[in-house]
Amino acid sequence: MKINILKTADEIGEAIGKIFCDYVNEKPNAVLGLATGASPVPTYNYIAKQCKEGKVSFKDVTTFNLDEYCDLPKKHANSFYSFMVDNLFSKVDINFDNINFLDGNTDSVDESARYAKAIKDANGIDVQLLGIGRNGHIGFNEPADEFTDEAFKVKLTDSTIEANSIYFTDIAMPHYAITMGIGSIMRAKSIILVATGESKAEAVKAMIEGEVTPKCPASILQQHEDATIFLDEAAASLLKK
Ligand code: GLP
Repeated sequence: MKINILKTADEIGEAIGKIFCDYVNEKPNAVLGLATGASPVPTYNYIAKQCKEGKVSFKDVTTFNLDEYCDLPKKHANSFYSFMVDNLFSKVDINFDNINFLDGNTDSVDESARYAKAIKDANGIDVQLLGIGRNGHIGFNEPADEFTDEAFKVKLTDSTIEANSIYFTDIAMPHYAITMGIGSIMRAKSIILVATGESKAEAVKAMIEGEVTPKCPASILQQHEDATIFLDEAAASLLKK
């Protein structure tokens, strides 16, 4: 694991955004794994700006998002699909046919197989972006007894429901989601995780300095050969070194 500690969320967004843009400039048909949440927004802002200025093109890029709520229409304002359209897809020149999302409104077993095949057919994910939940979740892989492999339907924990409920004003937040499993995340050739703010400090410490355990799903990244963690000082504040 490589650890980078920077001062502000915007500096982190610029650093990660630059990695993505350089990658796409090198490989225009790159396959990118994308995440939702507040943490990747500065990265998406940087990429959108670069695209607007003609410094990168997402025309041939393929994307796979990590997760989606169940029992929520795809185009509902609070879906992760809408989040991605608002924060990135509407601001870059991506071909919408190349955007892949898990469907939380269909049979999850069939959907898992469909997503696994789509990722395989695309020759795997080149770079996977991740945030981290306060309880150490990645995607929606909540603390569990075992590491998962492919995508699956998950009951969200109280901690996650509390953290994400703030985004739901008109309707109650769904309690189930469908997420890429730990295996599908770990098969990405390269992984970048971003964590900012004091509320992530415990999870960050467990991810980097704790034992590798499904009780802190992000700790598995210790075993990835190309994982880079970007932190601000608050998120890094409990680290020993
Ligand atoms: C969400 C997402 C994760 C994300 C995490 C942290 O529930 N499923 O992919 O990393 O929570 O979100 P935030 O960056 O808003 O703190």
